[in-house]
Amino acid sequence: MILSIESSCDDSSIAITRIKDKKLLFHKKISQESEHAKYGGVVPELAARLHAVALPNILESVKKYFSELKAIAVTNEPGLSVTLVEGVVMAKALSVSLKLPILPINHLKGHIYSLFLEQDTNFPIDILLVSGGHTQVLHVKNYDKIEMLATTLDDSFGESFDKVAKMLGFEYPGGPIVETCAAQGDSERFNFTVPMSNSPKLAFSYSGLKNQVRLSIEKETMDDKTKSDISASFQKTAVKHLMQKIKKIYKNKKIENFGIVGGASANLCLRARLEEFCKDKKANLHVAPLEFCSDNAAMIGRCGVDAFNLGKFTDMDNLAIHPRSNEFAKNV
Ligand code: KG4
Ligand code: ZN
Repeated sequence: MILSIESSCDDSSIAITRIKDKKLLFHKKISQESEHAKYGGVVPELAARLHAVALPNILESVKKYFSELKAIAVTNEPGLSVTLVEGVVMAKALSVSLKLPILPINHLKGHIYSLFLEQDTNFPIDILLVSGGHTQVLHVKNYDKIEMLATTLDDSFGESFDKVAKMLGFEYPGGPIVETCAAQGDSERFNFTVPMSNSPKLAFSYSGLKNQVRLSIEKETMDDKTKSDISASFQKTAVKHLMQKIKKIYKNKKIENFGIVGGASANLCLRARLEEFCKDKKANLHVAPLEFCSDNAAMIGRCGVDAFNLGKFTDMDNLAIHPRSNEFAKNV
């Protein structure tokens, strides 16, 4: 079995995954969202302090598996430095006391593996990764060969929802709140310009759209109806931007498997547009169960199984954190 640890941002999570059949035997996550909500975003030092309490707490529940463990998988990149350290320190302590090797796991690769919990991988697969920190289109050949086809030039998709939510006076994280609010709104009322629609560049940009929303908020008298209409118009434009660029990227390319991963892949408006796209392209669409879209240790453990089988071990002295790692860009 593999014990996996995730602490790259504001979720403390531990999982146990059986190596031979990838079965998820245990998974627990303690989300810190409500603690950060009052500050309007994640406060790294607070997140680190909360991990230091939550992780040992969850660990108590998995002690019964200790004798059957073969390795410790831990997220070591990318993420917040002070929170990554919490998971990595725990992995090192377990490695020493239980005499187990460590599997360092890239958090973004972990998100890709959220599609393959308790099952085999479907490589090659094309991926849209939409989270609070990233907006990337990836072509995944195998564990080691991941090509980045497009990324954002500024804000990420999820981050733009968080920032719009903040401007509308909603709590963090904004994605689910803006989506709920948008469901009651008129998406035609505000005519936001789709970013980079005339540019041939295969890249995303969300900072301009965020500013368009800000200017509208400053002009309008903000009541509940206007908030819903802004949310709906913003969401429609944000998704349209993603879809325009994705269609451009795959214009002359075949797709066999397509997956959406990351916290913002829970957005149903985005899922609906991607379903249409995959139908047109005759591609199989893969989505993770909703509870495993956001950060969790189950995906790190599943990724850990492949890392284990490929012998991707590291020793304690070489286990470092890489908060700003952009591993996929290097693979292009
Ligand atoms: O993957 P994740 O849990 O954490 C990171 O690794 O960043 O993603 C969290 C992000 C937040 O920005 C959150 O607002 C966004 O995903 N998100 C959504 C939705 N649910 C979560 N964005 C749009 N629509 C949603 N339904
Ligand atoms: Zn994530």
